[in-house]
Parts: sequence; structure tokens; C-alpha cells
Amino acid sequence: MDEKQGQYKVRDLKLADAGRRQIEWAESRMPVLMKLRETYSKTKPLAGYKIAGCLHVTKETAVLIETLRAAGAEISWSGCNPLSTNDEVAAALAANGVQIYAWYGLNVEEFYWCIDRTLDFKPNLTLDDGADLIFTVHNKYPELAEDIIGGTEETTTGVHRLRAMADDGKLVYPVIAVNDAETKWDFDNVYGTGQSTLDGVIRATSVMLAGKNLVVAGYGHCGKGVAMRAKGMGANVIITEIKATAALKATLEGMQVMTMDEAAKVGDIFITATGIKDVLVGRHFDSMKDGAIICNTGHYDCEINIPELEDRMATKRTIRANCEEYTVSGNRRIYLLAQGRLVNLAAAEGHPSEVMDMSFANQFMSQVRLVMAHKGEEVLERNKVYDIPVTQDQEIASVKLATMGLNIDKLTEAQYTYSMDYAAGT
Ligand code: ADE
Repeated sequence: MDEKQGQYKVRDLKLADAGRRQIEWAESRMPVLMKLRETYSKTKPLAGYKIAGCLHVTKETAVLIETLRAAGAEISWSGCNPLSTNDEVAAALAANGVQIYAWYGLNVEEFYWCIDRTLDFKPNLTLDDGADLIFTVHNKYPELAEDIIGGTEETTTGVHRLRAMADDGKLVYPVIAVNDAETKWDFDNVYGTGQSTLDGVIRATSVMLAGKNLVVAGYGHCGKGVAMRAKGMGANVIITEIKATAALKATLEGMQVMTMDEAAKVGDIFITATGIKDVLVGRHFDSMKDGAIICNTGHYDCEINIPELEDRMATKRTIRANCEEYTVSGNRRIYLLAQGRLVNLAAAEGHPSEVMDMSFANQFMSQVRLVMAHKGEEVLERNKVYDIPVTQDQEIASVKLATMGLNIDKLTEAQYTYSMDYAAGT
């Protein structure tokens, strides 16, 4: 491990050159964020502000971090999952002067140690994916909140919890729900999760998906993305759901729908994407076929009840990276991928740069918005979760389209008038 107190702790600084090449690769596929970098590096709206971030340390996140820095911010960063840090990227960031505390394979204690270190520099803003950083401020260092003007949250799970906190009057500074931007959840959650989750399953197992019964738990945006891509690769996709409308949509989109108790008996590959705990539990492991593969793509590692799997285990061995074989009753083998942590980041590289481009453009713009509000442009209440403005969504989507060389039509004045004319009929 390479460490410099108050500055970084990463796996190996010698990996920095390899990390820099990966960051440059991501930059070439993130034109929206790079355009924001070019614009805001001239005006530096974030100068004098310190941002603590807790978000997967990937090549795409590095592009976000370096864009925030180019806009004037001072940064301190940790990963938001013990198995999602790209050590090469972390080394490149450390070598470039970013305060960063992150390495692949942290234990839980180290995970929180890294978060604590990012708070040592007393940030003015927080940037979260899963809300661990903001919870740490609220629960462990409430005195820091005095200097914090706001935070942003990247993911569905985090936004749910922060809204619950606001409903209970417990949130002590304003948060912008980046996840809820249309240019985030309708793209990153669907197409990003769809591709990266299957990428993780394939890298960890190398199995063929065609012809397999592939069970997706949850048909929210993430589950839908996984199901859609798995279907495209020839899997027989089975959906389990708790929400009637979501289950109905899945059926009409050509998926089979059943309960997990039923699916457990027939599935070859199980992917949880619910954000809820105990989706796969002991009784499911008891009825699974020999050779079943189980994994999770939700934010936390509680969707698969691993203690209940371990209770049933006769033997356990590592087959290959991110693929553990458990032998359970009846000499059946169950393969757990990435220790039940999000398989798309632990066993692959997370979502592709092209889609993170829009998510992180929203992150960047939301951090700028918090600072501009602090400078008096807008009043943001302390105990509130804010959506991103619709205009921001349209702007980001327009720039993305332009970078792809695509043009769209515009309403004529007559069409606009017609669309608003409530007297017009047949
Ligand atoms: N979440 C999912 N994919 C990601 C990526 N590539 N970078 C950062 N966060 C992510």
C-alpha cells in the first residue's frame, strides 16, 4: 500500500501511468463532461470550495473529479464500495495531487476509515453514491454540517433513504437527487446497468447466456436494463417483482413473471436488482439447481442473504476471480459472484463512459448549483431533497445528441400554438 498522510492511501502509486491512460480513454468518450470542463475551467465557479466525494473510483469518476478540480474545487475522495475501486485509476489521481483514500478489496473497517479521512479537510459540499458519506456526517461528525452547504446523491437507494430522512426532518443540509434526472435514471440505470451487469457475469464465469433461464429480481430501471440485454443475448428471462404494475410491464414486454420461490427451482443465473434486502434467502438456496449462479447488481450487498448460504455450506472454494463455489445439501453447487457485491463494478468496470458522461454532467452541474445557491442565486432549504431542473436535463441531452452528430426537429410557432389550444378539436 502507498500512503502519504493527509494526501492519499492507494494500492500502488506505480500504477499511475496505466491509470492515466484509462482516464484519457474515458475522457475521449465523455464529450459532455469535457465540454463542461472547458467552459467552467475559465470561470472557476467552485474556487474556494472543498468537495468530499464517496463514489466508485473508476476511470469515469476520475473524469468527474478532474472536471470539478478544473472548475476550482479542492477534492477529497473515497470509493463507495469495498470492491469497486480501480487501483490504477486511484494511483493516477493520487499522483495528480487529488486527496484519495481508496483501494480494491477494502474490509468494512477500512471502508469507513477511508470515508473518515475524506472528512478530515472539513468539506463544504458532499457528493455521494449510496449516501454513506452523508450518513457519516450526520451520525458521526454532525459538527461538520455547519460548514456544509449541500450535497448530491447519485443512486436510487441513496435518494430513497435521503427522502425518508427529509420526511422525518432529519436532513441537515440540502441534497440534490442526481439519480432522478431523466438523463441519469433513464440511461445510466437502464443501458448502463444492462450492459455492465452482463459484462460482470460474463467476466466472472465466461458462461453462455443464450438458452439459460436468467432470473432478474426487480423490474425497476436497472432490472429492466439487465432483462432487456439478457433477452437480446438469447436468455429466457424470468422476472420476479413485488409491484403489480412493474410485473405487468415485464409480462407485456415478453418476460416470464413468477415468484422467487418458483423461479428458484428453474433458474440457471440469478441477478438481484431491487435495492431491498433478503431477495435470495435460505429456502431459495435449498431449491436451486446444481450449478446455479447467483449475483447482485444493487447498491448494497444484502440482497443475497450470504449468512444463510454459509449456514448451508459444506465446502467453499474459489473457482476464479469473483466466482466462489459453495457446495450445499444434496451435493449441489451454487456459484456466488463478487461476494454478493455489485457484480458490474466488482467483476467488470461499471457502466461505460458514454453513459456516465450524462450522469456525471448532472453531478457536476448540481455541485455548481449548490455553490451558486450559496452565493445567493437561489434559496435551498436545509431539510430538503431537490430534483434537478428540467432545463438541465434537456441541455445535457441536447449536447449529447450534438456530440453524436444527431439533429432533431423544432416545433414551429404554429405547432406550438396548436399544442396549447384547448379549443381545437377534430
Ligand atoms: N456506477 C456504475 N458504473 C459506474 C462507473 N463506470 N463509474 C462510476 N460509478 C458507476
